[in-house]
Amino acid sequence: MKDLTRALRRRVRQSDASDWTATASRPSSAAPQGETTPPPSAAGKRPAAASKTKVFAELSEKIRACRACPLGAARIQAVPGVGSADAEVMFVGEGPGFDEDHKGEPFVGRSGQLLDKIMASIGLSRETVYIANIVKCHPMVDPSNPEKRGNDRPPSPDEIAACRGWLDVQIRTIRPRVIVTLGAVPARVLLDDPTGITKIRGRWRTYDPGEGAPPVRLLPTFHPAALLRNPDLKRDVWEDMKSLRAALAES
Ligand code: SF4
Ligand code: URA
Repeated sequence: MKDLTRALRRRVRQSDASDWTATASRPSSAAPQGETTPPPSAAGKRPAAASKTKVFAELSEKIRACRACPLGAARIQAVPGVGSADAEVMFVGEGPGFDEDHKGEPFVGRSGQLLDKIMASIGLSRETVYIANIVKCHPMVDPSNPEKRGNDRPPSPDEIAACRGWLDVQIRTIRPRVIVTLGAVPARVLLDDPTGITKIRGRWRTYDPGEGAPPVRLLPTFHPAALLRNPDLKRDVWEDMKSLRAALAES
């Protein structure tokens, strides 16, 4: 752990947020009221990395074969997630889009490229974290046409309910120290809290992955697609990333 923390600090010194926050034009909004520092971690002993990697590979195969909801029939391929089975940080988005459906990997389109930059600014990468979504298959307006761009829609409550179990198994297997939710949908689903993303972002919460697994600290932030639409939000996400970096630096 010490080595990892040192490596993280080294990487953090080498990078900053200037390349993705450059267009942000207003000062950061005041820190949200309520809890702004993470509560102490209740994490127990994390399972050995090698056994996790094997269990995880099998789990990803099961997800790729899943047909538990109608999205499974329309998708080109399921998108279980990408990264390390031993990750300390999990990023959770909403669901795959056109690019992800074609590549079988989450966050590979424009918002994914921005997510890579956001992670790099605090020394993280898609190899060292784990990135997943609330639903693993592409929700389409017209399910008969996966080759059409702009055919994305949010997942329905039924689809979310059908897929939710996969994410919880992923969380219980990885046992990350921190989950970062991206945008309104994953925050609402995991926290079971309808409060808008603008109000809850940056406030540390706790997630119970069930079946006796230890609770995980959870930080809601904006979705990178929201930053592409409104670059002013980059300031807030940079504040959240600094908060994440501080949480990870705790031993
Ligand atoms: Fe299975 Fe989830 Fe895909 Fe539905 S979205 S088919 S539940 S993996
Ligand atoms: N948006 C998401 O929420 N997830 C992806 O994988 C890609 C874009």
